[in-house]
Formats: sequence, C-alpha cells, structure tokens
Amino acid sequence: MKKNSLTTNIILIGMMGSGKTTVGQLLSSYLNFTFIDTDQLIEKQQEMSVDDIFNQKGESYFRKLESNIIPNLPKTQAVISCGGGLPVYNDNSLKLNDLGITLYLKANEQSVLKRISTQSGRPLFSSKKEDISNLISKREEVYNKAKYIVNTNDKSPDEVMDGILKILF
Ligand code: S3P
Repeated sequence: MKKNSLTTNIILIGMMGSGKTTVGQLLSSYLNFTFIDTDQLIEKQQEMSVDDIFNQKGESYFRKLESNIIPNLPKTQAVISCGGGLPVYNDNSLKLNDLGITLYLKANEQSVLKRISTQSGRPLFSSKKEDISNLISKREEVYNKAKYIVNTNDKSPDEVMDGILKILF
C-alpha cells in the first residue's frame, strides 16, 4: 500500500508514558494526517487542564467526557492519541476499533516510570513501580483488543514509528 492511499484513522492506545503523543505527532506529519490527542481535545473543550478536571470534578466525570468525545472524532485521515484510560471504560475499546486501525503501544513499568518521571500533570500517576505494574495488568486485557501491538520498550519515538509503518504498509 502506498502512503497516500491510506485513509483510515490510526488510533494509538496504551499506558501514559508509552509515547502515544510523541509518536502520534511524528506519524501524523509523516502521513499528512490530522493529529488529535484526546486529553488536549478535552482540555480545550472544558477550558481546564486534565489535572484540574480530576481534582475539581472527579475521575468519573472525566471518564464521561472521554466517552462523549468518541462520536465527535474524525472518521478518516487522523492519528488519534487516546488518554491511557479512555479504552478501558464503556466499551470504548470496541468503539475505537470501529473508528480506525488501533495500535497498542506496549510499555512495561520501567519504561512508563522512566518516561513519566520527567512530566507533570498526571493525576493517576503514582511513582510506585508496583502501582504502575498493577494498572498495566488491570488494563492489559482491554489494550490487547487493539488490532496490533507494538512494543515500545527501549525504543525511540522514531523507531516506534518505523515499526508502525512496517505494520501499516
Ligand atoms: C490517564 C492518562 C492520561 C490522562 C489522565 C488519565 C490514565 O493520558 O488521560 O491523566 O488513566 O491512564 P495519557 O495516557 O495521554 O498520559
């Protein structure tokens, strides 16, 4: 398949710190697709940071917002990077599979820890390795519903993107 014959959305799911946003941006410019990050979309819509939404309105409110934006996402030619918990609720993983080619960017707890320790504003983030491990094990079953699984451990964003392009073309 040629690069410009792809019209389907590319949907990235996985844990926070798995590189969805960085890889998504690279991929969208390579493919000349629109880039959507669901966290950024919600922040714009609500005029509040994800952190503030969690703190002031609670997690379940945020999860409703995440579910509610799915029908409004583009239907073609977008790379969509989903918040780590988005696929986990309300059968969202199935809805995402209907919306495009889903890829699970798989990262183990060491990689997640390494990547998120330099970032702030992650309400669910606990720096305890065992908490991250537990979250990964809880979510893995849902993440595994993605069409493809891409290992991101010890890989640079460019290497992850190359892996994705090999899958797609
Ligand atoms: C979350 C991941 C975050 C954000 C929120 C909750 C999660 O997105 O949606 O902090 O539950 O894993 P990223 O995966 O883009 O960091």
